[in-house]
Amino acid sequence: MVSEKQLNRVGKWLAGAKRILVITGAGISAESGIPTFRGADGYWKKHDVMTLASPEGFAANPALVWEWYAERIATVRAAEPNAGHRALVELERRVPEFILLTQNVDGLHRRAGSQNMHEIHGSILRARCMETDKIYSIDDLNIEPPFPVRTPEGNLARPDVVWFGEIIKMDAMEAVDQYFDADKVEMCLMIGTTGMFPYIQRWALQTRQRDGKLIEINPEPTMLADFCNEVLECNAGDCLPGLVEYVSKSTY
Ligand code: OAD
Repeated sequence: MVSEKQLNRVGKWLAGAKRILVITGAGISAESGIPTFRGADGYWKKHDVMTLASPEGFAANPALVWEWYAERIATVRAAEPNAGHRALVELERRVPEFILLTQNVDGLHRRAGSQNMHEIHGSILRARCMETDKIYSIDDLNIEPPFPVRTPEGNLARPDVVWFGEIIKMDAMEAVDQYFDADKVEMCLMIGTTGMFPYIQRWALQTRQRDGKLIEINPEPTMLADFCNEVLECNAGDCLPGLVEYVSKSTY
């Protein structure tokens, strides 16, 4: 439960902040009908992560990996951005310096209209040639059995996502470092992520170390909750629109 008092406090901080970093994870897309990874019905409750999301798993059975990705692509194509994604678009329009880092590969932030955004784990809507590294939109490939997916030239393709054991997109890493180097991040919102990866934890804690406010929005507080200035135990789509209204009101 989130109290009026908590919303008021975070809303006022948001309205006063000029530099905001937002980090999202699978939870923000849950209300669009896309399963999370570690939740009750999460992917990693039913599937083995190393079989489906590692270079070794792909090398061992690319057809199986593509079968799973084809299912996820179909889910993502049928989904629509939700109130949480849309509220972040509105927030970006109101805040002078805004950066959004998403671990999600579903493209919903982009479809909602977010601009200064990095998909640090890549995109399920792209594939990469294993021979040439050329990137393809999945709209230009045949994502149908028989798997694995191949490029028009007949080469093996792989989803253009970051798997376990791989490093995140360097351009994103550099953009975040520059963002931190330039000035103090006044607020960091961690939305719908368990924050399992060290770089996520580093960015969150860096905000605190430099006197910024760290806020978690998640119905189930994570291990980062203890380091937060405020934890809003709620669904992103339920509380983000109300929070962003504080900013809209203050800038009219
Ligand atoms: P997780 O599945 O680990 O965590 C999802 C989080 O969202 C949980 O903490 C939930 O409590 C929370 N949540 C659920 N519904 C929510 C809602 N409506 N609003 C807000 N929060 C909600 O997903 P991630 O943290 O994104 O990486 O996982 C990080 C990475 O691990 C993924 O990018 C993926 C995965 O393995 C790779 O595949 C490389």
